[in-house]
Formats: sequence, C-alpha cells, structure tokens
Amino acid sequence: MKHFLTLKDLTPAELKLLINRAIELKKLHKHGEIYQPLTGKVLAMIFEKSSTRTRVSFESAMVQFGGGSIFLSPDDTQLGRGEPVEDSARVISSMVDAVMIRTFEHSKVETFAKYSSVPVINALTDEFHPCQLLADMQTYQEHRGSIEGKKVVWIGDGNNMCHSYINAAQQFGFELHIATPKGYEPDQAIVDAADATIQLFNDPIAATQGADLVVTDVWASMGQEEEQRKRELAFADFQVNSAVMAVAAKDALFMHCLPAHRGEEVSAEVIDGAQSVVWDEAENRLHAQKALLEFLLAD
Ligand code: CP
Ligand code: NVA
Repeated sequence: MKHFLTLKDLTPAELKLLINRAIELKKLHKHGEIYQPLTGKVLAMIFEKSSTRTRVSFESAMVQFGGGSIFLSPDDTQLGRGEPVEDSARVISSMVDAVMIRTFEHSKVETFAKYSSVPVINALTDEFHPCQLLADMQTYQEHRGSIEGKKVVWIGDGNNMCHSYINAAQQFGFELHIATPKGYEPDQAIVDAADATIQLFNDPIAATQGADLVVTDVWASMGQEEEQRKRELAFADFQVNSAVMAVAAKDALFMHCLPAHRGEEVSAEVIDGAQSVVWDEAENRLHAQKALLEFLLAD
C-alpha cells in the first residue's frame, strides 16, 4: 500500500507515468468516454481548511470513476471535538478505500497515514501541496513538453507550494530559482534534502532571467490571515508583473495554484495574459488526481 504525502513518495518513473496517464485520461474524458475503474470505492475527504479546486476535483474524479466520496469537516465530525488522529484514522480507514486530508501540521497526515489501513493523500498541509504539483507538471508538459532540464522560478513566499516545487525539482529534474524577501525563505532542511540544482535569491528580476516557467502564490496562506498587512509590506517588490515576465524566456509560462489576488502577488495583465496557463492548471487538478487515484486504488 502506498500513501501520497509528498512527491517523494513516488519514484521519478512513477511520477512520469502518472503525468502521461493524466494527459491520456483527460483525452478520454473530453471524448465523453465512460471509464469507471473505482466502481463501489469510497474516498473520505477531511478538510480542516477551505477549498474550491481540491474538493471539486476529488469529488468529480470519484463520481466519474464510478465511486463516491464523503466530505468531512471538523465542524461536524468528532475530529473537531478532539478525537485522537490515531483513533480517527483506524475508524475511517476501516470503512473507505482511501482518505484525502487537508490540514495544518504536516505531522497530522503522517500520523493518520501511520494508523490508516488504506492509502492517504495529502491535499495540502502547511508544509506541502503535492497534488497541485501533479497538475502543474501535467500543464507544463501539455504546453511545452518535458520540464526536465528547464529553468523554473518561484517568486514570493517560501511556503507549502514552494516546498513542493523543491521536491518537484528533484523528481522531475528541473533547475529551480527561488526569490523570496529576507525572512520568508523556504525551510532550509527541505532545500538541503533535495538532490537538485536550487538557488535562493532576494531579487525577483535576477532570479527570473531566462526562466521557462514563472510561478507564484498568495503572500499570506491559509492560517496566516492575521499577517496579511505585514506580508503585503514585506512582499511589495515580489509581484509577478510584465517587468518580471520580460526577463523570462520569450515562451515562458506563468502558473499560480489559485486562488489569486490580482494586484498583490500577480498583476492582472500577467494572470489574464497570453503566457498564463492558470485555467488549464486548475482543470488539470481533476485529471492529475484521477491518475493518482487510479495509481493508488485501481485493481
Ligand atoms: N489550488 C488549490 O488547492 O485550490 P483550493 O484551495 O481551492 O483547493
Ligand atoms: N499557499 C496557499 C495555497 C492554497 C492552495 C495556502 O496554503 O493557503
């Protein structure tokens, strides 16, 4: 049995297969073909933070695959009333075929996985967001071919998405530049653990020179709402706008996991412009996660 808590839970070869499969499943779906490898299977979805894309994509994926899903929020389960994660994991996993969790501490998904009898999928923690990277890698490949050997720049907060890009740099073999304000760098232990070419910058223009893919994310993540104002000041020079895109490669793509704040981390002209692939990226959450569910669950 496999879990998917970070991109490192799969081998580079498995990830490559999974991305190719996502592209194939997308085509099947667009052609209206019915494909139901998960008939009768159930995915439990624990959401301790808000979501639009993750919830809609996982629920749709399960329906399209012939299975079902259960949305569980802390407000109306015993998880929110202090039932231990270990106990919840044993109980929930005894009744379903897989569990998807969006929560705060990464250690919580690790503990859940330890006590779960079925595969556990990390649907975002404070530390990682691996499902988003599957969609991002699929999107890059669809538009530009293999990302191996390409230069990717991450601009903004050294957050969960940034950490998953660090893992992706190793697993998919691209070079990663990370531009953050001082004090907002990614976790150094995650950088050090990556067998990849990673360079840290405090200047977005210097970091973006010749980049093939430019990626950003919100300045204040879920759980950091009270830091919004402080972060707006700290990140003021880290907006992805036309001046930044101008120094990237001519055919560079722009990605953002969404939700986005136009006028903060990205200008409207960039996110709504010709180099932006954010809508494909969002849609690919569905196809990439179908490939993941099939990989983890199908007989
Ligand atoms: N990108 C992403 O995970 O979006 P949601 O928070 O809407 O699920
Ligand atoms: N870094 C963001 C990603 C949202 C999908 C957050 O954690 O809120």
